[in-house]
Amino acid sequence: MATAIFPGSFDPVTNGHLDVITRAAGLFDRLIVAVLHNPNKSGTFTVQERLGMLKCVCKPFAHVQVEAFPGLLADLAAQRDARVVIRGVRGAAELDAETAMAQVNGKLLPGLETILLPAAPEWAGLSATLVREVAAFGGDVGKFVPPCAAQALQRHFSRQ
Ligand code: PNS
Repeated sequence: MATAIFPGSFDPVTNGHLDVITRAAGLFDRLIVAVLHNPNKSGTFTVQERLGMLKCVCKPFAHVQVEAFPGLLADLAAQRDARVVIRGVRGAAELDAETAMAQVNGKLLPGLETILLPAAPEWAGLSATLVREVAAFGGDVGKFVPPCAAQALQRHFSRQ
């Protein structure tokens, strides 16, 4: 059984992430969408909130699992017997960093391959950071994120 992991911060999940999940789900027998810690980012949503949004979004895919992992991506891949990491790339600007990550992960777990999926053109300019900014100023994020994430954003920023 071929298992792939799609790791990310998912703070929150966006339509760009959902596009990658949909495409990767069509390629693998099992896809694990994993919320991992990015030490370069401070979170807006709790890990539990991110998991809730992802579970809602991934419900239609029977072979897609959602989980959080507190450690290294390579350790999660080893534990889940996954040989492939999926990452979406939104353009050339992201390519160097993604290549470096793929190389380090391949050293940490020999045989672990990374497949980079180019973002669909309609989502190439989209990021969770921009979505949070739109939501923080009361803008409509319905075009950018799935409904569960739009509701969570609305709830979060109406409390601020
Ligand atoms: O959505 P992001 O923030 O671009 O995802 C980055 C993420 C969370 C996948 C990356 O920071 C990560 O893999 N974190 C887990 C710790 C780890 O394995 N670091 C080594 C990466 S080479």
